[in-house]
Amino acid sequence: MVELAKLLVHRHSTLVISLVIITSPSTATAAVTRYADSLAAAATPRKDDGGGQPSPAANFTPMIESHKPRIREAVSAELARSGARLAGFVLDMLCTSMLDLAEEFGAPSYIYFTSGAAFLRFQLHVQESHDEEGFDVTELKEAELACPGLTRPVPSKVIPSGFLNKEWVALVYTITRNFRKTKGILVNTVRELESYALESLSRGKNIPKVYPVGPILNLKGEKSRREDDETIEWLDQQPESSVVFLCFGSMGAFRGEQVREIASALEGSGHRFLWSLRRPGEGGPWASPTDYEDVREVLPEGFLDRTAEVGRVMGWVPQAAVLAHKSIGGFVSHCGWNSTLESVWFGVPMATWPMYAEQQFNAFLLVEELEIATEVRMDYRSESEEVVSAEELERGIRSLMEDCSRKGRMKGFSDLVRGALTDGGSSSSSIAEFIGDVSNNDL
Ligand SMILES: *[C@@H]1O[C@H](CO)[C@@H](O)[C@H](O)[C@H]1NC(C)=O
Repeated sequence: MVELAKLLVHRHSTLVISLVIITSPSTATAAVTRYADSLAAAATPRKDDGGGQPSPAANFTPMIESHKPRIREAVSAELARSGARLAGFVLDMLCTSMLDLAEEFGAPSYIYFTSGAAFLRFQLHVQESHDEEGFDVTELKEAELACPGLTRPVPSKVIPSGFLNKEWVALVYTITRNFRKTKGILVNTVRELESYALESLSRGKNIPKVYPVGPILNLKGEKSRREDDETIEWLDQQPESSVVFLCFGSMGAFRGEQVREIASALEGSGHRFLWSLRRPGEGGPWASPTDYEDVREVLPEGFLDRTAEVGRVMGWVPQAAVLAHKSIGGFVSHCGWNSTLESVWFGVPMATWPMYAEQQFNAFLLVEELEIATEVRMDYRSESEEVVSAEELERGIRSLMEDCSRKGRMKGFSDLVRGALTDGGSSSSSIAEFIGDVSNNDL
């Protein structure tokens, strides 16, 4: 959101952007607790609540809603202070229940959708099929789902877990219906990368205007630490396109058994590697991973010594700086949308190992539709705690590093994506159009 805001003010210097941020999950949790307490005090118990705690899915909208009074106050104060005319609200893709707050102010809403256009098309399609034809995606079982914006049907095994769970999908429907009430959807993608899905979105019924404005990336990252400098120095010594890079996102970590399979696959493949290996967080599936004091405690005996010449195991890594390095030949990734765009930006072919959220869908898009990734797995789900075998991963790494067919396509997309935000590029034009729309909003 901040990167997008920077881009917008850079293009249009009379635009003023105020960011309203729900600071942290713990603040949010505190707000939910207060909200829930106030409800509990006011409400008579309903028959169906069984006295249990509301589920996280049921909690989500109240959690967002509980912030409304403070946001109303903050917006009023900011308008009074600046004397600026309110042109519109750009809402986070999960905060759509703020729509009516924008309405109170008489301002239009837009969404910033931080995944790709194909996934947006999919989400709209699932909701529309549900509302108009009574289609229930949770009943899909082993089948596949034809969806506009994709050239082939989506297998159920790559549909996000949240869509396959009745409670969560109800929230997806609510959010998606809200998308349709907005004046436009900004998407972190590039026309040349997802032209097929974007065209389908522009033809779909009751779909607001979609603005592809990407790639919105933060390639500078944080200030580099000593170990990061050492990593880059190590990469400097490796031959061009010779190193496979493994990194699974800010929430990506595996238990011991899986770690040993990965280690064995790396040794077996014989390829040079840089591996971001992180310790699973303590306290539930959403606890953030941390770095190991000493990775030896989870790696097979002697692994570091045997691979000292060809590999490096790190904790947190400066991913963009690594992907930018010419020695990197392939990226085994969880396929988060940021990581996907970074890999495309730097023209590094990918191997897919999704974990959660819409990552399985992204993997499908990369392997089947765009053909810029090879498959380790498209359907891995971190909650399954399934173990991907060393053989499977080794096969994936070999295909990634030894079969060059995807490299050319990836390089082609890289050039196109890099052009998008330059003067006259597709995303630049989209941003200009969006600013034009916002400037004309007569309130
Ligand atoms: C994606 O990248 C942006 C920077 O452009 C960053 O602020 C955001 O936290 C990243 N999202 C995730 C899920 O890592």
